[in-house]
Amino acid sequence: MRIGFYQFAPRFGEPQANLAQIAEALEGARADLIVLPELANSGYLFLSQAEVAALAEPIPGPTTEFLTGLAARLQTHLLLGLPERSGDVFYNSAVLVGPEGLSGTYRKAHLFYEEKRYFQPGDLGFPLFDLKGVKLGVLICFDHLFPEAARTLALAGAQIICHPSNLVLPTYGQLTTRVRSIENRIFWVLANRCGTEDRGVKKLTYTGCSQITAPQGTILAEAPADEEMLRLVDIEPEQAADKRVTELNDLFEDRRPELYRG
Ligand code: ACM
Repeated sequence: MRIGFYQFAPRFGEPQANLAQIAEALEGARADLIVLPELANSGYLFLSQAEVAALAEPIPGPTTEFLTGLAARLQTHLLLGLPERSGDVFYNSAVLVGPEGLSGTYRKAHLFYEEKRYFQPGDLGFPLFDLKGVKLGVLICFDHLFPEAARTLALAGAQIICHPSNLVLPTYGQLTTRVRSIENRIFWVLANRCGTEDRGVKKLTYTGCSQITAPQGTILAEAPADEEMLRLVDIEPEQAADKRVTELNDLFEDRRPELYRG
Protein backbone atom coordinates (compact mmCIF):
# COMPACT_ATOMS: atom_id res chain seq x y z
CA MET A 1 0.00 0.00 0.00
CA ARG A 2 1.33 3.44 -0.89
CA ILE A 3 0.45 6.31 1.44
CA GLY A 4 1.61 9.88 1.81
CA PHE A 5 1.02 13.51 2.64
CA TYR A 6 1.05 16.82 0.85
CA GLN A 7 2.38 19.62 3.06
CA PHE A 8 1.56 23.09 1.81
CA ALA A 9 0.53 26.60 2.86
CA PRO A 10 -3.18 27.13 2.11
CA ARG A 11 -4.14 30.72 1.38
CA PHE A 12 -6.80 32.07 3.74
CA GLY A 13 -10.26 32.42 2.21
CA GLU A 14 -9.29 31.06 -1.22
CA PRO A 15 -10.76 27.56 -1.42
CA GLN A 16 -10.69 27.38 -5.19
CA ALA A 17 -7.03 28.38 -5.38
CA ASN A 18 -6.13 25.96 -2.60
CA LEU A 19 -7.94 23.04 -4.25
CA ALA A 20 -6.36 23.92 -7.60
CA GLN A 21 -2.93 23.90 -5.96
CA ILE A 22 -3.62 20.48 -4.43
CA ALA A 23 -4.71 19.11 -7.81
CA GLU A 24 -1.59 20.46 -9.50
CA ALA A 25 0.77 19.15 -6.81
CA LEU A 26 -0.80 15.68 -6.85
CA GLU A 27 -0.91 15.36 -10.64
CA GLY A 28 0.62 12.03 -11.66
CA ALA A 29 0.97 10.82 -8.03
CA ARG A 30 0.42 7.09 -7.66
CA ALA A 31 -0.83 6.27 -4.19
CA ASP A 32 -3.66 4.56 -2.33
CA LEU A 33 -4.05 7.39 0.18
CA ILE A 34 -2.84 10.99 0.38
CA VAL A 35 -3.44 13.04 3.54
CA LEU A 36 -3.77 16.83 3.37
CA PRO A 37 -3.70 19.41 6.20
CA GLU A 38 -6.46 20.58 8.55
CA LEU A 39 -8.78 23.26 7.08
CA ALA A 40 -6.83 22.86 3.85
CA ASN A 41 -9.42 24.43 1.57
CA SER A 42 -10.22 27.47 3.72
CA GLY A 43 -7.13 28.38 5.75
CA TYR A 44 -7.07 28.38 9.55
CA LEU A 45 -6.84 31.82 11.12
CA PHE A 46 -10.48 32.92 11.27
CA LEU A 47 -11.18 36.35 12.75
CA SER A 48 -14.94 36.05 13.17
CA GLN A 49 -17.87 33.64 13.12
CA ALA A 50 -18.97 35.36 9.91
CA GLU A 51 -15.76 34.23 8.22
CA VAL A 52 -16.37 30.66 9.36
CA ALA A 53 -19.94 30.83 8.07
CA ALA A 54 -18.76 32.18 4.72
CA LEU A 55 -16.18 29.42 4.20
CA ALA A 56 -17.88 26.41 5.80
CA GLU A 57 -19.78 24.01 3.57
CA PRO A 58 -21.98 20.97 3.89
CA ILE A 59 -20.57 17.45 3.61
CA PRO A 60 -20.99 16.29 0.93
CA GLY A 61 -20.61 19.64 -0.81
CA PRO A 62 -18.47 21.48 -3.35
CA THR A 63 -15.12 20.42 -1.85
CA THR A 64 -15.98 16.72 -1.62
CA GLU A 65 -17.30 16.94 -5.21
CA PHE A 66 -13.99 18.44 -6.36
CA LEU A 67 -12.02 15.82 -4.44
CA THR A 68 -14.10 13.00 -5.90
CA GLY A 69 -13.12 14.11 -9.41
CA LEU A 70 -9.46 14.38 -8.39
CA ALA A 71 -9.52 10.99 -6.62
CA ALA A 72 -11.08 9.42 -9.71
CA ARG A 73 -8.43 10.92 -12.02
CA LEU A 74 -5.60 9.76 -9.75
CA GLN A 75 -7.31 6.51 -8.69
CA THR A 76 -6.53 7.30 -5.06
CA HIS A 77 -8.18 8.26 -1.78
CA LEU A 78 -7.78 11.74 -0.31
CA LEU A 79 -8.16 12.78 3.31
CA LEU A 80 -8.62 16.53 3.78
CA GLY A 81 -9.63 18.90 6.57
CA LEU A 82 -12.35 21.49 5.97
CA PRO A 83 -14.82 23.69 7.88
CA GLU A 84 -18.19 21.94 7.89
CA ARG A 85 -21.62 23.53 8.09
CA SER A 86 -24.39 21.33 9.44
CA GLY A 87 -27.57 23.40 9.75
CA ASP A 88 -26.57 26.30 12.00
CA VAL A 89 -23.63 24.44 13.53
CA PHE A 90 -19.98 24.42 12.43
CA TYR A 91 -17.39 21.69 12.87
CA ASN A 92 -13.68 21.44 12.16
CA SER A 93 -13.98 18.27 10.09
CA ALA A 94 -12.06 15.95 7.80
CA VAL A 95 -13.36 13.88 4.91
CA LEU A 96 -12.15 10.70 3.24
CA VAL A 97 -12.98 10.78 -0.47
CA GLY A 98 -12.31 8.17 -3.14
CA PRO A 99 -13.18 7.75 -6.82
CA GLU A 100 -16.75 6.81 -5.81
CA GLY A 101 -17.21 9.86 -3.60
CA LEU A 102 -17.36 10.54 0.12
CA SER A 103 -16.52 7.53 2.26
CA GLY A 104 -16.11 9.05 5.72
CA THR A 105 -16.37 12.15 7.90
CA TYR A 106 -14.70 12.91 11.22
CA ARG A 107 -15.39 15.98 13.38
CA LYS A 108 -12.50 17.22 15.54
CA ALA A 109 -13.17 16.24 19.15
CA HIS A 110 -10.61 18.44 20.95
CA LEU A 111 -10.78 22.05 19.81
CA PHE A 112 -7.66 24.21 20.14
CA TYR A 113 -7.69 27.77 21.53
CA GLU A 114 -9.94 30.13 19.50
CA GLU A 115 -11.45 27.24 17.54
CA LYS A 116 -13.65 27.02 20.65
CA ARG A 117 -15.24 30.32 19.66
CA TYR A 118 -16.14 29.18 16.17
CA PHE A 119 -16.71 25.41 16.12
CA GLN A 120 -18.65 22.84 18.09
CA PRO A 121 -16.65 19.88 19.41
CA GLY A 122 -17.06 16.78 17.28
CA ASP A 123 -19.98 14.50 18.07
CA LEU A 124 -19.17 11.50 15.88
CA GLY A 125 -16.75 9.75 18.25
CA PHE A 126 -13.71 8.20 16.62
CA PRO A 127 -15.03 6.28 13.61
CA LEU A 128 -12.99 3.75 11.64
CA PHE A 129 -12.97 3.88 7.84
CA ASP A 130 -12.25 1.01 5.50
CA LEU A 131 -9.89 1.52 2.58
CA LYS A 132 -9.62 -1.70 0.54
CA GLY A 133 -9.70 -3.75 3.75
CA VAL A 134 -7.27 -1.49 5.66
CA LYS A 135 -8.69 0.23 8.74
CA LEU A 136 -8.09 3.98 8.97
CA GLY A 137 -8.69 6.34 11.86
CA VAL A 138 -8.62 10.13 11.71
CA LEU A 139 -7.54 12.66 14.32
CA ILE A 140 -7.24 16.39 13.67
CA CYS A 141 -4.28 18.39 14.97
CA PHE A 142 -4.74 19.07 18.75
CA ASP A 143 -6.40 15.64 19.12
CA HIS A 144 -2.84 14.26 19.18
CA LEU A 145 -2.34 15.46 22.77
CA PHE A 146 -5.10 13.18 24.03
CA PRO A 147 -3.62 9.66 24.05
CA GLU A 148 -7.08 8.22 24.72
CA ALA A 149 -8.20 9.25 21.23
CA ALA A 150 -5.44 7.35 19.43
CA ARG A 151 -5.84 4.44 21.83
CA THR A 152 -9.58 4.26 21.17
CA LEU A 153 -8.92 4.02 17.44
CA ALA A 154 -6.11 1.48 17.83
CA LEU A 155 -8.17 -0.73 20.14
CA ALA A 156 -10.95 -0.66 17.54
CA GLY A 157 -8.47 -1.95 14.96
CA ALA A 158 -7.05 1.14 13.24
CA GLN A 159 -3.87 0.31 11.33
CA ILE A 160 -3.16 3.84 10.10
CA ILE A 161 -4.06 7.14 11.76
CA CYS A 162 -4.42 10.06 9.38
CA HIS A 163 -3.67 13.36 11.08
CA PRO A 164 -4.48 16.54 9.14
CA SER A 165 -2.94 19.39 11.12
CA ASN A 166 -2.16 23.07 11.47
CA LEU A 167 0.37 22.66 14.28
CA VAL A 168 1.77 25.80 15.85
CA LEU A 169 3.63 24.53 18.95
CA PRO A 170 7.15 23.51 17.87
CA THR A 171 8.06 19.80 18.12
CA TYR A 172 4.94 18.72 20.09
CA GLY A 173 3.09 17.00 17.27
CA GLN A 174 6.13 15.45 15.63
CA LEU A 175 7.09 13.95 18.99
CA THR A 176 3.70 12.78 20.23
CA THR A 177 2.65 11.23 16.92
CA ARG A 178 5.82 9.18 16.89
CA VAL A 179 5.09 8.07 20.45
CA ARG A 180 1.45 7.28 19.56
CA SER A 181 2.78 5.07 16.77
CA ILE A 182 5.02 3.20 19.20
CA GLU A 183 2.52 2.84 22.03
CA ASN A 184 -0.23 1.60 19.69
CA ARG A 185 1.96 -0.12 17.07
CA ILE A 186 0.28 1.65 14.20
CA PHE A 187 1.24 3.75 11.18
CA TRP A 188 0.67 7.51 11.45
CA VAL A 189 0.49 10.13 8.71
CA LEU A 190 0.93 13.64 10.07
CA ALA A 191 0.02 16.09 7.27
CA ASN A 192 0.88 19.47 8.71
CA ARG A 193 0.70 22.80 6.95
CA CYS A 194 3.64 25.16 6.63
CA GLY A 195 4.07 28.90 6.12
CA THR A 196 2.79 31.98 7.92
CA GLU A 197 -0.81 33.13 7.86
CA ASP A 198 -0.88 36.90 8.29
CA ARG A 199 -4.39 38.26 8.85
CA GLY A 200 -3.22 41.77 9.81
CA VAL A 201 -4.40 41.83 13.42
CA LYS A 202 -3.32 38.20 13.92
CA LYS A 203 -0.51 36.10 12.56
CA LEU A 204 0.46 32.43 12.95
CA THR A 205 3.46 30.47 11.75
CA TYR A 206 2.92 26.74 11.30
CA THR A 207 5.57 24.14 12.04
CA GLY A 208 5.55 21.95 8.89
CA CYS A 209 7.75 18.87 9.44
CA SER A 210 4.99 16.50 8.34
CA GLN A 211 5.96 12.89 8.82
CA ILE A 212 4.95 9.27 8.37
CA THR A 213 5.83 6.88 11.18
CA ALA A 214 5.82 3.09 11.37
CA PRO A 215 4.58 0.91 14.26
CA GLN A 216 8.09 0.78 15.77
CA GLY A 217 8.29 4.57 15.68
CA THR A 218 10.64 4.74 12.71
CA ILE A 219 10.19 7.86 10.60
CA LEU A 220 9.50 6.63 7.07
CA ALA A 221 9.20 10.07 5.44
CA GLU A 222 9.44 13.63 6.62
CA ALA A 223 9.22 17.15 5.27
CA PRO A 224 11.20 20.21 6.29
CA ALA A 225 9.62 22.97 8.37
CA ASP A 226 8.96 25.43 5.61
CA GLU A 227 8.71 23.74 2.25
CA GLU A 228 5.69 22.57 0.30
CA MET A 229 6.19 18.89 -0.39
CA LEU A 230 4.47 15.66 -1.47
CA ARG A 231 5.94 12.51 0.11
CA LEU A 232 4.78 8.95 -0.57
CA VAL A 233 5.99 5.68 0.95
CA ASP A 234 5.17 2.00 0.59
CA ILE A 235 3.98 0.29 3.75
CA GLU A 236 2.64 -3.09 4.81
CA PRO A 237 -0.39 -2.19 6.93
CA GLU A 238 -0.57 -5.79 8.29
CA GLN A 239 2.47 -4.91 10.43
CA ALA A 240 0.11 -2.93 12.65
CA ALA A 241 -1.50 -6.19 13.80
CA ASP A 242 1.63 -7.14 15.77
CA LYS A 243 1.41 -5.57 19.23
CA ARG A 244 4.25 -7.63 20.73
CA VAL A 245 7.17 -5.88 22.44
CA THR A 246 8.93 -9.03 23.64
CA GLU A 247 7.88 -12.65 23.41
CA LEU A 248 6.24 -12.14 26.82
CA ASN A 249 4.74 -8.70 26.23
CA ASP A 250 1.86 -7.59 24.08
CA LEU A 251 0.94 -3.90 24.30
CA PHE A 252 -2.78 -4.57 24.17
CA GLU A 253 -2.98 -7.79 26.18
CA ASP A 254 -0.78 -6.32 28.94
CA ARG A 255 -3.06 -3.35 29.51
CA ARG A 256 -4.63 -3.07 33.00
CA PRO A 257 -7.86 -1.14 32.41
CA GLU A 258 -9.11 -2.09 35.87
CA LEU A 259 -6.31 0.14 37.30
CA TYR A 260 -6.91 3.10 35.01
CA ARG A 261 -9.16 5.99 36.03
CA GLY A 262 -10.47 9.13 34.38
C1 ACM B 1 -4.56 22.90 16.18
O1 ACM B 1 -5.27 22.06 16.75
N1 ACM B 1 -4.86 23.35 14.99
C2 ACM B 1 -3.34 23.39 16.83
